[in-house]
Amino acid sequence: MGTEEVVLMKGIVKVYPGGVVANRGVDFDLRRGEIHALLGENGAGKTTLMKILAGCLRPDEGEIYVKGRKVDIRSPRDAMNLGIGMVHQHFTLIPNLTVAENIILGMSDLPHLLNLEEAKERIRELSESVGLKVDPEAKIDQLSAGEKQRVEILRLLYRNADVLIFDEPTSILAVPEVEALFETLRSMVEQGKSVVFVTHKMWEALSISDRITVMRKGRVVARVKPEEVDDKELVALVVGERVAPTRVERAKPKETAEEILRVENLRVEGDRGGLAVKGVSFTVHEGEIFGIAGIEGNGQKELVEAITGLRPVKSGRILFIGQDITGRSVSELIEMGMAYIPEERIERGVAADLPVVDNSALKRFWVNPFSERGIIKGEVLRKFCSKIVETFKVKCPGIDIPVRYLSGGNIQRLIVGRELSMNARLVVAENPTAGLDVKSTNFVREMLIRLRDGGAAILLVSTDLDEILELSDVIGVMYDGRMVAIRPAGQMTAQEIGTYMLGGEVVGR
Ligand SMILES: Nc1ncnc2c1ncn2[C@@H]1O[C@H](COP(=O)(O)OP(=O)(O)O)[C@@H](O)[C@H]1O
Ligand SMILES: [Mg+2]
Repeated sequence: MGTEEVVLMKGIVKVYPGGVVANRGVDFDLRRGEIHALLGENGAGKTTLMKILAGCLRPDEGEIYVKGRKVDIRSPRDAMNLGIGMVHQHFTLIPNLTVAENIILGMSDLPHLLNLEEAKERIRELSESVGLKVDPEAKIDQLSAGEKQRVEILRLLYRNADVLIFDEPTSILAVPEVEALFETLRSMVEQGKSVVFVTHKMWEALSISDRITVMRKGRVVARVKPEEVDDKELVALVVGERVAPTRVERAKPKETAEEILRVENLRVEGDRGGLAVKGVSFTVHEGEIFGIAGIEGNGQKELVEAITGLRPVKSGRILFIGQDITGRSVSELIEMGMAYIPEERIERGVAADLPVVDNSALKRFWVNPFSERGIIKGEVLRKFCSKIVETFKVKCPGIDIPVRYLSGGNIQRLIVGRELSMNARLVVAENPTAGLDVKSTNFVREMLIRLRDGGAAILLVSTDLDEILELSDVIGVMYDGRMVAIRPAGQMTAQEIGTYMLGGEVVGR
């Protein structure tokens, strides 16, 4: 590995509209011929920093130097002209074109590349040189996620990129594909290219990189070499020293609390086949917040979908107030008193084109008190909606405007208001405050506590460890599809939870 600096980012600050400060003065450097891991929890600011380098976002402050020269990167094309390319978490390929067509797409202004046959030949050469198997004539929509990723990589190599940024590249890969990707990365740096490997997985950073930059809450907190740091230290760096959070005031738990939710040895398949939930068991009682901590992608999403009736169960059982609800439909569960605050608010929580008033009773139109003998009672619905808007301080110019005109925070207030106004026995809340400003965040958290105090059972799934620590009565940690720990809040330190979350005990598996 050389020491020549190919990229230097200094004092990068990025504030998103809405006020989230994603980068708070970040310095980052990349050397020629190295694999540099950018490690940190969800929300640390990694993607933001790399999108700035790749020209997808403009920083509010800071300087970027590429190969010693100060540059102004205004677009991905600018970045590409400097040899910088990024493989994003979400692909940008056009499904009904071939691999070769996708690779040369956008380059047809270069006359010598108009020859598709020549292009295919060059693609074959490139794929061999770094061990990326793809058929240039295959249609994109016939490819697996792993193959699409290879096409994205080839697209960058085809454009002579020598700084390649990978954002969580293994999240879409099966295990053997991960090894193959690592081989490709190694052969790329042997050829003098430089790689930024963005990840939240500690063992990946340790096994693939020459250096690791650790980010936390928008800042760089450490720069280390894998061989110089042990697992425990790295966990502490990633998770940070956490002061005991101020726990939200709450009523004492009841002596004999009824069991509301029981999950027994649940197995659930993920989108890519294979088990996403690998035998999970736990119970949630009335007046209790059961918080599930874990880094995104460890089975929480599939678990929630199985409980809320959105995803089939492979094996195991789910009991709700004593009844086996495995395989029941969403509407049956709603009728039984299950509320759901989804993370994907726009997609799942509301019908964006319908007015606020309709959204305030979404999926419940046909249930008392909103309708009688199949006829919706408009006035009851309007009153109900106005009450939610008032109580939950949903800022909207009128309840007849489509929901999509509301800000994210106000859509969330509407959903929370709706779900919490249903006298639910169980509330499943999935990252309920993600992306919200401080005021809305506190509001949502208080509402959850109030509901708990009123006797509801709350299943809180959050990738925000502080949120879990603040709200939960019992904490479970998910890692790799398993509940690796369950303990009453207060009996597990943030540090311990962090270790479980990061798979600290399976480093180097
Ligand atoms: N487009 C956006 N608008 C507003 N906030 C955003 C946007 N993208 C990311 N954020 C916020 O910026 C912070 C950093 O996010 P990100 O850079 O994606 O972190 P990471 O990649 O480390 O998970 C998070 O708090 C996230 O919620
Ligand atoms: Mg990211």
